[in-house]
Amino acid sequence: MKILVTGGAGFIGSAVIKKLQESAHTIFVIDNLSFGNRAFISIPDQQFYQIDIRDADAMETALREIQPEIVLHLAAIHFIPYCNQHPFESSDINIRGTMNLLKAIKSCGSVQQYLFASTAAVYPIIDEAISEDAEKKPMDIYGLSKLAGEELSQKFHQETNITTIICRFFNAFGPNETNPHLIPEIQQQVNNGLRTIKLGNLTPKRDFIHTSDMANAIDALLTHMKQGFEIFNLGRGIEYSVTEVVQAFEAQLNQRIEIESDPSRVRKVERMHLLSDISKLTRFTGWTPKISLEQGIKTLINS
Ligand SMILES: NC(=O)c1ccc[n+]([C@@H]2O[C@H](COP(=O)([O-])OP(=O)(O)OC[C@H]3O[C@@H](n4cnc5c(N)ncnc54)[C@H](O)[C@@H]3O)[C@@H](O)[C@H]2O)c1
Repeated sequence: MKILVTGGAGFIGSAVIKKLQESAHTIFVIDNLSFGNRAFISIPDQQFYQIDIRDADAMETALREIQPEIVLHLAAIHFIPYCNQHPFESSDINIRGTMNLLKAIKSCGSVQQYLFASTAAVYPIIDEAISEDAEKKPMDIYGLSKLAGEELSQKFHQETNITTIICRFFNAFGPNETNPHLIPEIQQQVNNGLRTIKLGNLTPKRDFIHTSDMANAIDALLTHMKQGFEIFNLGRGIEYSVTEVVQAFEAQLNQRIEIESDPSRVRKVERMHLLSDISKLTRFTGWTPKISLEQGIKTLINS
């Protein structure tokens, strides 16, 4: 299969490509390298298109040339503090960029399956495991732009009947991080030799899933979902507090780490819980997450 991954040079995209390359797929990537890194992926230059998804003509030309059978749409601006600081740029990329891609898919005529990388940020604050049919009420411009992407993708499915999968990712962790999320932030401070680290809010809990588990789930969805339109949560189904994440680092290092709360890092609006109900995905595909937080952090420390 010819698979096009937008945002393929990014954090999650690079893990997904590694998994898909285990099967005999030919991978093409569209990425403007604003956040991604060409060195994260091993594909020939003629399969790498350094273009901006906001450029409608370039997108249409690329898709006509590639003639992909599967498209995974991961290109986006997603670091929430960046989106809040650059609301016009991020909504332009996340919404207009998605519209350009969908238009290009329609005009190239080869696509059979399309997957849109959405987010848990489409949900409001909910203090229990969240299932796909929970209320959608984004708290920020990022979640709002992704909800718009979901709606556009659903409308696209209604118009084209192309198999469409919406995957709401929870908090990813693993190698090749591109944004200063919690785990790479701790990793960086620890790798710099600090044993007193500065972090923002300490009590919120998050559902951390390793990118290789995410890649396996996406691969399983591509195998099992051959028609229709479906929405799936993609998380670990376990939530961990910031303190528990730091404890996982301590366990691997066998050293004590002190945490200092840094007021400049404290988010004004914060969810205390974010936990996925992944029963729909496991039922549909047979996939289950394998990598624990402790195992994932062990590989990060050793990398
Ligand atoms: N990392 C997470 O925890 C998480 C959680 C929920 C959803 N997501 C979603 O998963 C997807 C991948 O996220 P990620 O963590 O790998 O982020 P990332 O920033 O590492 O990857 C996004 C990629 O898109 C590229 N890109 C950005 N703007 C572009 C543009 N205008 N044109 C072309 N390419 C562009 C970047 O260069 C980057 O390689 C995103 O859609 C994101 O919203 C991620």
